[in-house]
Amino acid sequence: MTFVLLFSFIGLSTCLMRGNETDRLSLLSFKSLISDDPSGALHSWNNTLHFCQWQGITCSRRHQRVAVLDLPSLKLIGSIAPHIGNLSFLKELHLPGNKLSGEIPSEIGFLKRLRKLRLLNNSLNGEIPPNLSNCSALVIIDIRNNQLLGEIPNEFGSLTKLKQLSIYKNHLTGHIPASIGNLSSLIILSASYNSLYGSIPFSLGQLMNIQFLFVAVNNLSGTIPLSIFNLSALTYLEFTENFELQGSLPPDLFTTLPNLQCLTLEYNQFSGPIPVSITNASNLLFFDASFNQFSGSVPSLAKLHKLQRWDIAGNRLGTGGADDLYFLSSLVNVTGLEVVKASGNYFGGRLPETISNFSTNLRVFYAGSNQISGEIPPGVGYLVNLEEFSVQNNRISGTIPRSIGKLPNLVHVYLDRNQLTGQIPSSIGNCTKLVLLGLGANFLQGKVPQSLGMLQELAGLDLKINNLTGPVPLEIFGLTSLSISLDLSANNFVGSLPNEVGNLKNLGYLDFSNNQFLGNIPATLGTCVRLEQLLMGGNKLQGSIPESLGSLRGLEELDLSRNNLSGEISRS
Ligand SMILES: *[C@@H]1O[C@H](CO)[C@@H](O)[C@H](O)[C@H]1NC(C)=O
Ligand SMILES: *[C@@H]1O[C@H](CO)[C@@H](O)[C@H](O)[C@H]1NC(C)=O
Ligand SMILES: *[C@@H]1O[C@H](CO)[C@@H](O)[C@H](O)[C@H]1NC(C)=O
Ligand SMILES: *[C@@H]1O[C@H](CO)[C@@H](O)[C@H](O)[C@H]1NC(C)=O
Ligand SMILES: *[C@@H]1O[C@H](CO)[C@@H](O)[C@H](O)[C@H]1NC(C)=O
Ligand SMILES: *[C@@H]1O[C@H](CO)[C@@H](O)[C@H](O)[C@H]1NC(C)=O
Ligand SMILES: *[C@@H]1O[C@H](CO)[C@@H](O)[C@H](O)[C@H]1NC(C)=O
Ligand SMILES: *[C@@H]1O[C@H](CO)[C@@H](O)[C@H](O)[C@H]1NC(C)=O
Ligand SMILES: *[C@@H]1O[C@H](CO)[C@@H](O)[C@H](O)[C@H]1NC(C)=O
Ligand SMILES: *[C@@H]1O[C@H](CO)[C@@H](O)[C@H](O)[C@H]1NC(C)=O
Ligand SMILES: *[C@@H]1O[C@H](CO)[C@@H](O)[C@H](O)[C@H]1NC(C)=O
Ligand SMILES: *[C@@H]1O[C@H](CO)[C@@H](O)[C@H](O)[C@H]1NC(C)=O
Repeated sequence: MTFVLLFSFIGLSTCLMRGNETDRLSLLSFKSLISDDPSGALHSWNNTLHFCQWQGITCSRRHQRVAVLDLPSLKLIGSIAPHIGNLSFLKELHLPGNKLSGEIPSEIGFLKRLRKLRLLNNSLNGEIPPNLSNCSALVIIDIRNNQLLGEIPNEFGSLTKLKQLSIYKNHLTGHIPASIGNLSSLIILSASYNSLYGSIPFSLGQLMNIQFLFVAVNNLSGTIPLSIFNLSALTYLEFTENFELQGSLPPDLFTTLPNLQCLTLEYNQFSGPIPVSITNASNLLFFDASFNQFSGSVPSLAKLHKLQRWDIAGNRLGTGGADDLYFLSSLVNVTGLEVVKASGNYFGGRLPETISNFSTNLRVFYAGSNQISGEIPPGVGYLVNLEEFSVQNNRISGTIPRSIGKLPNLVHVYLDRNQLTGQIPSSIGNCTKLVLLGLGANFLQGKVPQSLGMLQELAGLDLKINNLTGPVPLEIFGLTSLSISLDLSANNFVGSLPNEVGNLKNLGYLDFSNNQFLGNIPATLGTCVRLEQLLMGGNKLQGSIPESLGSLRGLEELDLSRNNLSGEISRS
């Protein structure tokens, strides 16, 4: 009796010895493949300390065996030793945000207790070992943002406890295996930014608990299986930029997916109407259907109280009819609204006066390239946080509202290619953050306000094809921020070109053509060293062409025709 007891005691203790010694040796093997440890995180991994005290190690209390290996964001360089597969009590392997390369060792497949595998944000390559499917306790696989190749292992379908599979941002190819539909606990499937192709498997419709389904920026094709629209737990659904996904969306989509907060579909071939059930999508925050082939009218959005971003640009929506933009009016009580993009459709009608009641959180409003008529509502001046306002390429008439000067955060304003009349309001000089101002191809007249000189961030100014007159204010030539273009062509500008034009040292495109500019070309133009296009044809310039133009080395296009100039340019 005593003998047996003693024997089993010895047996037990050698077993413990062997266990903890294996862990120690495994960890030392792990350390031996770390070639650089800039913060000295593994300094404590030495023989004077028990390994349970080493940095990043948590041991199970009962067995004194490694349960957690946690070394996040330490800039560790090296690879993961296969010996890690000997840490048989390991529950969590957590090495995110390092610079680990090499393959994920298939020996991890031996870790029967492993619940969380987080190797995200490293440089791991090679294929995902199918052996991971032997870690039947796995709840989280997060290996996103590495350089993994090959296919998603079909074997993963057996991981019935898996809640998160994040393989986002790798170089994975192949199909999404149908067996993924067997992951009955799955909540997050994040597979965007890979090269997955083929169709989305119907079996994904079995993922009754899934809340986040991300398959954007891949090469998926075909239609979204109807089974997906039965997954009522879904909150985020992203299909962006597969280019080949197609088909129409079921009209009751937002009824069968009542928790949907985000639906992104942009850059695909989806067609048909925007599902009418969207009128009741009261949880929706983001809807992005841009650059598809959606058609029909846009339902009322009045009940989308949480909406922040609405993007339907680049579709076939609207009929050119007067009621097309009704949906804009329906947005007035949506207090969190930040982005509305409706450009590049067939919308007719007028911009609603109620735009003045839009949320002051609105930052971006795009309605360009439609068939919109009427005036720009002066109430736009209430949208104090507006940064981008773009209604170009429509049939908008009337004057530019003075109230635009009340929008101090404007960065981009595109009103070009419309039928705007009257003068450029001097209040625009108040919009001191403006970077791009497009007013070309309208019927604007009168003088250019001096206040434009206050736009010290302006990189591009387009005033072409209007009926602007008078001399160009000297202040314009003080805008050293101008880098992209200054286009004054096809107006009625008079006077001579001032020497100050030489201040535009960053400017790439300068177009004075088809005006009534007089006098000599200022020699100072030769200091505009970034110029690639210099167009001054069709004026009344005279005298000799300054030699300094020969020093404009980047010049690709020069037009001085239809003037009274003499001499020629000698390239020095
Ligand atoms: C292993 O465990 C035994 C018993 O708990 C202990 O005496 C011994 O010091 C441990 N060895 C190591 C290397 O941790
Ligand atoms: C072992 O690590 C501990 C804790 O970082 C440190 O104080 C000690 O100097 C180290 N011993 C050796 C021999 O490196
Ligand atoms: C640990 O793992 C390595 C590599 O998988 C293996 O060669 C070695 O025999 C294992 N060591 C022990 C003590 O189990
Ligand atoms: C992973 O990288 C992303 C993007 O670079 C970053 O936002 C995130 O905080 C990182 N996470 C970890 C745990 O390193
Ligand atoms: C990994 O799986 C393959 C195929 O099942 C097998 O041949 C190999 O021995 C496994 N390796 C480990 C370390 O489990
Ligand atoms: C899983 O483990 C079993 C034995 O434990 C082995 O036969 C099989 O090849 C393993 N499968 C994978 C994919 O590693
Ligand atoms: C897993 O999924 C595949 C394909 O959907 C199916 O054929 C297989 O029977 C499933 N396996 C289990 C264990 O459910
Ligand atoms: C994915 O599509 C892009 C663009 O259509 C193509 O260049 C690329 O070769 C495709 N990749 C795969 C893996 O099919
Ligand atoms: C969606 O769910 C309903 C009710 O559970 C079921 O009758 C229908 O077949 C399912 N549709 C698809 C495409 O899975
Ligand atoms: C916005 O709210 C006001 C006040 O509650 C209400 O009278 C109006 O009908 C609402 N408009 C829309 C389009 O929901
Ligand atoms: C210009 O800005 C000032 C201060 O922000 C403001 O008081 C003034 O009304 C603005 N002018 C116009 C014409 O909007
Ligand atoms: C342009 O302005 C001139 C003078 O102000 C005027 O005579 C002419 O009719 C205008 N042309 C157009 C197309 O508006």
